[in-house]
Amino acid sequence: MHIIKITKDKKRFLDLLLLADEQEDMIDKYLARGDMYALYDGDLKSIGVVTKEDEDVYEIKNIATYEKYQGKGYGKQLINYIFDSYKDKCKTMLVGTGDSPLTIPFYESCGFVVSHRVKNFFTDNYDHPIYEGGVQLVDMVYLKKTFT
Ligand SMILES: CC(C)(COP(=O)(O)OP(=O)(O)OC[C@H]1O[C@@H](n2cnc3c(N)ncnc32)[C@H](O)[C@@H]1OP(=O)(O)O)[C@@H](O)C(=O)NCCC(=O)NCCS
Repeated sequence: MHIIKITKDKKRFLDLLLLADEQEDMIDKYLARGDMYALYDGDLKSIGVVTKEDEDVYEIKNIATYEKYQGKGYGKQLINYIFDSYKDKCKTMLVGTGDSPLTIPFYESCGFVVSHRVKNFFTDNYDHPIYEGGVQLVDMVYLKKTFT
């Protein structure tokens, strides 16, 4: 298993990026300025994108594992790699997600705790309703990991 930083042609990972964020023009808002990582175990398993949001604050904007490889620990390994890479340059790592039982328990299992919510984020910013597990996403739920 190895993780590499992707600096060129990030859009070649669009299929994975769209798994986590299904509207391409929303991805375009952070992809160029984001640090992108790809996890390979043999072939490609997962990608993640991290942005700088403030002096001591970074945010995971996108993380996805190919469906057939989900639940095998790849997402958590990528998050741990990101924590290790950023713990000395920030105090807080944020991640925003829909209010969904498919993602919040994943982030909690990786050490994030629920922080705050942005009301109506999905209904205000996406051009179509976003559903996850049959439920429409409305608010963005932010979780955070604090480094001491
Ligand atoms: C969310 C996602 C990135 C998780 O990646 P993954 O490689 O499947 O996660 P892992 O196998 O590393 O799981 C790590 C832990 O989270 C838990 N977990 C993962 N998905 C879960 C779920 N839906 N419900 C409960 N727990 C879950 C695992 O059980 C595991 O717990 P453990 O370490 O205590 O055993 C992956 O499911 C995915 O790509 N989903 C589609 C894209 C997406 O929604 N991205 C997030 C956008 S906010």
